[in-house]
Order: sequence, then structure tokens, then C-alpha cells
Amino acid sequence: MKLWGGNYSAEPDRAFWEFNRSFGFDRRLLAEEIAASAAYVRALHRAGALTAEEAGKLDRGLTEILVRAEREPSYLELDAEDVHSFVETRLTELLGDLAGQAHLGRSRNEQAVTALRLWVRRATDSLLSTTAGLVRALVAQGLAGADAVMPGFTHTRAAEPITLGHFAAAHAWGLIRDRERLLDARRRLNVLPLGSGALAGTALALDREALARDLGFEAVSENALDAVTDRDFAAEFVFACAQLQTHLARLAEDLIWFSGPEFGYLSLPEAFTTGSSLMPQKQNPDALELIRGKAARVDGDLLRLLVLMKGVPTGYQKDLQEDKEAVFDAADTAVASVTIMTGVVSGLALNRERMAQAASAPEMMAAGLAVALARQGMPFRKAHGLVGSLVAEARRTGVSLQQAAARLLPAQAPAVAAQLTALFDPAQAVAAKAARGGTAPEAVRASLEAALGLLESRPGIP
Ligand code: ARG
Repeated sequence: MKLWGGNYSAEPDRAFWEFNRSFGFDRRLLAEEIAASAAYVRALHRAGALTAEEAGKLDRGLTEILVRAEREPSYLELDAEDVHSFVETRLTELLGDLAGQAHLGRSRNEQAVTALRLWVRRATDSLLSTTAGLVRALVAQGLAGADAVMPGFTHTRAAEPITLGHFAAAHAWGLIRDRERLLDARRRLNVLPLGSGALAGTALALDREALARDLGFEAVSENALDAVTDRDFAAEFVFACAQLQTHLARLAEDLIWFSGPEFGYLSLPEAFTTGSSLMPQKQNPDALELIRGKAARVDGDLLRLLVLMKGVPTGYQKDLQEDKEAVFDAADTAVASVTIMTGVVSGLALNRERMAQAASAPEMMAAGLAVALARQGMPFRKAHGLVGSLVAEARRTGVSLQQAAARLLPAQAPAVAAQLTALFDPAQAVAAKAARGGTAPEAVRASLEAALGLLESRPGIP
């Protein structure tokens, strides 16, 4: 059944009809479309446009469609232009002309955007709770390794010793920001467009505030023309997913290197790796590589939405039908990636010995040595230059930086020379970075607890 055609004399071109249909993908909005339609029916009843009996019949009919769609997959194979016409057609089969009354004054333009807002709200809530699970897994690993020293890197070169907990917390805080972004976008998303009509508003005496409350919206759109055009909420959601994927890609990249034989700081849970068809020794980090690769998809989804929206004039245009698949793909990819990453992180096994051994490379203490010299009164730039010359001397003579310092420092800085054993101990080097946000085990534990605290206050809904 087409919802239009009164002014037509011919059937649509077959190829165009297929091209025009969105039911193949927007059937995912069925539950939201039905919830919004049921709320609209209640609003029509409150406005005096439907009797209680009519409203009751429509409500039961809508519920029946949803129940049947859940039980009977073939029900969704029935021909329909889009999810909105699917529901109206099925309702007409059940209730005849009364079905049309559920659409009194309502446009698909407002239906499409209302259903999509409801869907993105649900996706936001599930991403919030999935991401909370990953933060918890990182916090657990971070607390277990709060005092496990490892090298920290800049420019992919060993820089200064840090703790595994510091590394885990770095990733947890990125994800905390992703959650904050989702929560913030959720406020702008959670605005009711229904009651906008096609673009001009409604002539019915609808109580839009009550309709908003009924559907759990926190506010009502203030301009009907904007409400049917606006897809900011979709772009913001997909951006939040893209930024999250970027964080996951970075974590994946780190874990791929740190779990490789050349580093060996940690090992991946076997269940998240795959073997090679040729090389029997392999356990490849496919899960992490795919997470990294899928970041490209979500970036693509974001670009698709931004470019889509820059081309359309104000008011509903059919271009807007192209918004949905980008949103679905971004949400599906983000939830799946976070779920897999949570499994990987939970199953990581730390190799404390390998990490400690790598963290004890003496050159990583060069900055600490320069700071120690400066604290004994040497101007910092001079201390930096002196330690630099010790590094050059060590490299030239093939000894460690600690040995070179032991040989050359006593003459110039006897007090520092006396503390070399402590200064070159990575555990003491990390313990010294005790200010808030630093890598000292106590600071790391406080940071991880703070991250957990933020989750407790805003958990999300699974
Ligand atoms: N399937 C359409 C979409 O997804 C619904 C709105 C159609 N409205 C219209 N006037 N053609 O955007």
C-alpha cells in the first residue's frame, strides 16, 4: 500500500521504486516508529481528535504489529516503501479506515526524524554502558599493574619509565571523555520533533509537552521547519563514535606492539587471536587489527553525514533518507569494537619481568638525572647539557649511562653522584612522579579510582 497516489495516473517505474524504498534498512526503526505512533495516538485522544475506544484499538493494533514482527521474521518481508508505510499498511489490514486516523495531521517527515532520534538515544545509552565496561576492564588491569614499571614512549622511542597503571589510565581517561561527549550530545538529541507536521507545524490542539514526556524527551523543538530538517544529532552521535573508534585504534596499536615478541610486555588472550594458514608459530592480533581498521568505517560514516547535510536546502528532502545507514553502521561498529576490546583488555596477561627489564635501560633516567642535578643547584639547562655529554660519552665508550655518570660526576656533583643507585632505579624514578596525574603508583591508583567514580555517577543503560 502506498500512502500517496491520489493525484497519480501511472505506477512508479520499477527500478525507481526499489531505489526509493528504505524499508530494507529503516525496518530497524520499527520499535521506535511504533512507540512514537502510540504516543501520537494518545496525544490525539487528549486533543479530542480520537475517542478513548478508537485510541485503545489503535494502541492494541500497534502493539500487535510489534509483537508479530518480533515473532515472525517473514512478516518484515512484506513489501513496503519504508518503516512508516509498513506500520500504516499493517494497521490498515487490522483496523481498516481507523488506521488512517492515527496519522491525522502527521507527516512522515516528522515521523522519520522522531523515530531516528529515539533510535539514536537508545544507541547512545547502550554505547555508554558498553564503554563503561571497557573503562572498568582498563581500571582493573591498571590497579593490578599500578606499580609495574615499563618504558614510556615518545616518538616511538623509549622516553621515561612509567607504570602499566599509568598507561591503562591514559586510555581510560580518553574513554571517559567519549562518554562525556555522548552524554552531552544526548541532551541535544533528546528533543521532540513530533507535532511539526510536514514543516509548518500542526493545526491540531496537541499538547506537545505531554507528548514529549510520554516519549521520554526532555524538550520540545521550537521550530517545525528546523525540526524536520535538523540532523545535527545524528552527526554528533557519529562524531562521538568516530572519536571513540580513534581511541580504540590507538589502544589497539599500543597493544599490538606491546604484545609482540620484540616487546613482550604483555600477552593477548588466545581467544582473540588467529593462527596462520602457513606459519605454524603465529598467533596474530586480528581482533585489534580489525578494531583499528574499523575506525576508517566510522570516519567514513561521519563524512557521509556531513557531506549529505551540506547539500540540502531547508525543509525535508529525500536526501535525508540517506542519514540512517551511516548512523546504524557507526553505532554497530562502535558497540562491537568496544565489546571485543573489553574481552581483549580483560584477558591481557602482564609480563612484569620483561617490562621491568625494558624500563631499567639507563638512558631513560637521563631526564631524572638532570632534574636531580638542578635540584642540587646547577642551572637546569647546564644540567641538561652535562647529562647529554654523559650520554655521548657512554655511547662512545660502550658503557651504560650509569657507569659513565659514576665515573665523571663525582668531581662536579658529588651529592648527586652519591645517589646514582637510587636515581637509576626505575621503581624510584616512577615513585618520584607523585603529583596528581603522574605515574607514581599512588597517583595512578587515585586517577583510576576517579575514573571509576565518574562511571558510577553516569552508568548508561545496557
Ligand atoms: N523514508 C523517508 C526517510 O527515511 C521517510 C520520510 C519520507 N517523507 C517524504 N515526504 N517522502 O527519510
